[in-house]
Amino acid sequence: MSHHHAIAIDGPAGAGKSTLARRTAAALGFRYVDTGAIYRTVGYHMDFYGIGPRDTDGVTRLIGDVNIEITYDGAGAQHMILNGRDVSGDIRTPEMSAIASAISAQRVVREYLLEMQRDLARRYDVVMDGRDIGTVVLPGADVKIFLTAAPEIRARRRYEELLAKGQKAVYEQVLADLQKRDAQDAGRKIAPLRQAKDAVLLDTSGLDLDQAAAAIAGIVREKLGIG
Ligand code: DC
Repeated sequence: MSHHHAIAIDGPAGAGKSTLARRTAAALGFRYVDTGAIYRTVGYHMDFYGIGPRDTDGVTRLIGDVNIEITYDGAGAQHMILNGRDVSGDIRTPEMSAIASAISAQRVVREYLLEMQRDLARRYDVVMDGRDIGTVVLPGADVKIFLTAAPEIRARRRYEELLAKGQKAVYEQVLADLQKRDAQDAGRKIAPLRQAKDAVLLDTSGLDLDQAAAAIAGIVREKLGIG
């Protein structure tokens, strides 16, 4: 069996996982996989058909219709193609964040997506970010990083991201949503958000993006001997 390298980056919402995972993947020539986007896409599909994320029967009925393709544009950004349609923009709203978090607690959803994620890691060198990559999806990953930052700092970053995209946002609301989502993601029964025993903890509270990227590159170099 040919072996591909895998770097798992987990952590709570707004820790900078996506940006840092994308940069790390670009630097190493690995494929970047944002698994949160996959849960968001499933949530979007259900919402489109009027199925609430906690409606286990409805979600179970429709999950088989969810055909997801992951593509990348010239800038290396991941695009989510749901049954032939690019929904990458539609899944990036506060409403879809809440829906994705709720739907990700459904066993049928996690099982449906597990093989898809593992298959990507079998075919490519990957930097995969999410909540349970180091603990459940790729327990054998070569490098595991648990990325975190103080809630107020994560909320501030998320708030500024929303404003930059021209969306309306209130900081206090962003913070409250983020804390609710953390509690839900860490508190669920199946594959909760948790630092793997062998993961390196990286707190980015006092770091800017370049500093955090450099810290990750250092961890990767130490574990993999590359980068
Ligand atoms: O990373 P994100 O904020 O786009 O993820 C959206 C939601 O998806 C998150 O609140 C919980 C869920 N998720 C998960 O349960 N497991 C993953 N590996 C990634 C995301």
